[in-house]
Amino acid sequence: MCGIVGYIGGQQAAPVLLEGLTRLEHRGYDSAGLAVLGSSGLKIAKKAGRVRDLSEVLPKRFGGKAGIGHTRWATHGPANDVNAHPHTDATGTVAVVHNGIIDNAGTLRQQLTDDGVELVSDTDTEVLAHLIARSKADSLEGRVADALAVVEGTYGIAVLHADFPDRIVVARNGSPLIIGVGEKEMHVASDLGALVRYTTTVAHLDDGEMATLTAGGFTTYRQDLTTTNRAATIIDVDPAAYDAGEHDSFMHKEMLEQPAAAERVLRGRLDERFGTAHLGGLNMDARETRAIRRVKILGCGSAYYVGQMGASLLEELARIPADAEPASEFRYRDPIIEPDTLYVAVSQSGETIDTLLAVQEIRRKGGRVIGLVNVVGSAIARECDGGIYLHAGPEVAVASTKALTNMFLGFALLALQLGRVRDLSIADGKRLIAGLNRLPDQIAAILEQEDELAVTAARLAEAESLFFIGRVRGFPVAREGAQKFKEISYRHAEAYQTSELKHGPLALIAKDVPTVAIVPSDELTDRNLGALHEIAARRGPLVVVTHADVDLGDLSDGLLARIDVPRNERELDPILLTLPLQLLAYHAALVLGHDIDKPRNLAKSVTVE
Ligand code: AGP
Repeated sequence: MCGIVGYIGGQQAAPVLLEGLTRLEHRGYDSAGLAVLGSSGLKIAKKAGRVRDLSEVLPKRFGGKAGIGHTRWATHGPANDVNAHPHTDATGTVAVVHNGIIDNAGTLRQQLTDDGVELVSDTDTEVLAHLIARSKADSLEGRVADALAVVEGTYGIAVLHADFPDRIVVARNGSPLIIGVGEKEMHVASDLGALVRYTTTVAHLDDGEMATLTAGGFTTYRQDLTTTNRAATIIDVDPAAYDAGEHDSFMHKEMLEQPAAAERVLRGRLDERFGTAHLGGLNMDARETRAIRRVKILGCGSAYYVGQMGASLLEELARIPADAEPASEFRYRDPIIEPDTLYVAVSQSGETIDTLLAVQEIRRKGGRVIGLVNVVGSAIARECDGGIYLHAGPEVAVASTKALTNMFLGFALLALQLGRVRDLSIADGKRLIAGLNRLPDQIAAILEQEDELAVTAARLAEAESLFFIGRVRGFPVAREGAQKFKEISYRHAEAYQTSELKHGPLALIAKDVPTVAIVPSDELTDRNLGALHEIAARRGPLVVVTHADVDLGDLSDGLLARIDVPRNERELDPILLTLPLQLLAYHAALVLGHDIDKPRNLAKSVTVE
């Protein structure tokens, strides 16, 4: 949440920073701001709204070859011009941009006020600017370290100081910061996406680490100012992966990338001969694998819902009791950590603070935790004992699509490997591998139905409120479908177990409340069909996501649309049933005229509790 950029070098900083902020906007889009340091000192421009709103109000004379910028997702105080970053001290000498939360900001604000300092914003960040300004240390590094010494919480910060015009000082604790090395210029950003256009030579800071950037290079050190000697490395990344290209949104691009992304996560990991998967990154031998008695999956939002799909895969294929729980709740119930339970943290960003804190809680209590993570080298990936990288490529849209699909496939690989060292037969292993190999083409076939799905989506968009229903394997599919729909269409979309409808929510079924029903061809088809007829009898419109061999019977004019998806092995069907729900959400949001990639109130990575 929130994005940071910084630049120092031979160019004017403002255009470089604005370009970087545009690339980071998915991280927060309540307000944006810049500080530049030029011959006439420190200048600040900030504005509630989008980066384009900031560009429009940027003064003509906004020169300076060092600068920092920020795009905000509001935590402390409303999204207005005053609360936008950068924040300064009273004299306008220090400027700070900050990601994260200062937990003791209330106490620090009070202490500053008692000392006669006038705070102008509602933010936690402003205290940092005042604390840095009040330090008597000789160097900017020392002043920033002094301020951080009294701060509790998480941060990625970048600091400009008018008395130290040749440098930017940055610090990280729980909020990522990456330094980018250019030709006689240096960049810093909270996300690789803001850097790759300029450089692929980068250095990731660790928690507790600080750095000084000058036009000529960078140095890294701990908060006691002892060196950490971090070096930059060249990363293999395609800058085009961070562009939407011909697509009107990143979400659209990322949905269509799913067949290729699915191939990537499977590549080199399937062993046809032994009907198993090879996941070297798990760091577990066969004996340790056999000793697992339970699997507990932790994630947030869509990662939690796909975790529920993963739990089914693990139970069905590996016959290990498994369940998923929101990571955001787990830590707060003082969980019992069992030595023979395998904990699995699942996260696209690898930054989600609730998931990260759950991982830390498990490890603190001696548990073993592996990660299913997309962003290589992210905090969660680094914190886990091992894991599976998802190889979905950069995901920019707030609404997760290709990462979610690859999470499912990551669980399928895990279940296959665990299953084959336990009781899954080689024949079943081979059956699953054949199914996995069919998936990319089947995903492509569903995406080809986009035009028809758009028509159905337009009808669903007319409703203020919808149900998404499914049973057992289909229930997490319904949950994810409802999540995606509400996230970008802002319609009330509620997921329910089909079996639970008549225990309450059936009271809400009416002609203006459509239901999207997940009805695979499986052992529960007949029971699902019974529920559809109960809904139709109450004039509830239905969209049924199903398989071609399912006979829906006579739903009379209750059937708004039937969406057939290709069949795979029953364990793998959930991901194929999920795909049309992405397109329904996307096209409903499009019809309603919403900003697909930047939905109201949300941000891509949730780095605050
Ligand atoms: C997905 O569409 C959502 N934006 C959200 O629920 C997301 O999945 C959740 O915040 C977890 O993010 P993560 O995968 O980066 O941990």
